[in-house]
Amino acid sequence: MDATTLKALDGRRIVLGVTGGIAAYKVASLASLLVKSGAEVRVVMTEAAQEFISARTFRELTGQPVGTAMFGETSNYRVEHIALAQFAELVVIAPATANFLAKAAHGIADDLLTTMILATKAPIMVAPSMNVNMFENAATRENLSLLRRRGFHVIEPAVGHLACGTSGRGRLPEPEELATAINDYFARSNKRELEGKRIIVTAGGTIEPVDPVRYIGNRSSGKMGFALAEAAARRGAQVLLVTAPSALADPRDVEVVRIETACQMREAVLAEYDRCDAVIMSAAVADYRPKVVATEKIKKSEPTLTIELEKNPDILFELGQKKARQVLIGFAAETTNIEEYAARKLEQKNLDLIVANDVTVAGAGFNADTNVVTMMARDGSREDFPLMPKSALAALIVERLINIIRLNEEAEK
Ligand code: C5P
Repeated sequence: MDATTLKALDGRRIVLGVTGGIAAYKVASLASLLVKSGAEVRVVMTEAAQEFISARTFRELTGQPVGTAMFGETSNYRVEHIALAQFAELVVIAPATANFLAKAAHGIADDLLTTMILATKAPIMVAPSMNVNMFENAATRENLSLLRRRGFHVIEPAVGHLACGTSGRGRLPEPEELATAINDYFARSNKRELEGKRIIVTAGGTIEPVDPVRYIGNRSSGKMGFALAEAAARRGAQVLLVTAPSALADPRDVEVVRIETACQMREAVLAEYDRCDAVIMSAAVADYRPKVVATEKIKKSEPTLTIELEKNPDILFELGQKKARQVLIGFAAETTNIEEYAARKLEQKNLDLIVANDVTVAGAGFNADTNVVTMMARDGSREDFPLMPKSALAALIVERLINIIRLNEEAEK
């Protein structure tokens, strides 16, 4: 199967739970297909699953740590079952054993996978696979129907030769069929919740001229903001991307305004602010600019050079002051006391959500393709996320934005 036929998987965050059935070996091909199709896959295995296939296989295929134990050492997350539960857009359990179905149906949480299942709000898809008699057993039938009523999606097992030597219903469908079922699920749920909404996204690092050839700048690449603009457009929003110099190409279906300085960014954003529904300020705006910009190139005649700086406007603060219905999302790139500073900014700048990251952590912050963030919302909720690509993080931030807009609209009614 060609990964390009599974288009709806691109950028999707999937937690793949593997339980201890002989068919676990087939799931390596499934993981590989999902990854090749652009999905972000995190695998969680039960202890029994590790008797059939090694965690290392999944680690190599996904390029990510595999969750194997409730109190394991491998994780790069704070509380692994919660981080995975929040990360998932969809949880897929394949193969799902009779034992797993029984535990899930009754809320038993005695390992990482079953605990994560209880903690997640993401939809759950199960692909049962077992001996035909076990599958037809009344206990299994009732557990499955209970899970169906609770909204679990069930991929029916196929009929065929079973590893136990019998034949009948109980075979795990082939990896291609599983991948197609997952792809179809996302294709159906590709909603355009932001249709009719205008969203401003800022990106990149502003540059502040010193003279006609020099400037003061920062290391921001614009990757986060460009990914956010693209993710919001994908959900149907009319997006205006106001970006400081960036080497990145214009994202698809997005109106792009390229500026250089903080003052120009402020003007471009304010001009559209009244008409917009949300602003995501991911730009690294320079806090200061040279007070005087030399009209001629400064000569290197003196042994020292002093440039006096003056403060730039805090755009996001101003937006917070002028806020009417707009949802405001800010970023806080910190090197120390991340949570404390982020919480303070949320309050001071009158934001709905702040995305905080420690720029000293490997794989986080400027110029990286990945990020590790904590999000704090106005309602006091806080979520920690694992290392993930900026594209996946952008989709997640846009989902939070959709929720905030929906809650605001419901409150207005
Ligand atoms: O106060 P601090 O610069 O850490 O706040 C970061 C947030 O504020 C970011 O969302 C950034 O885009 C925004 N900001 C701004 N104008 C400034 C400085 C930061 O809008 N002058």
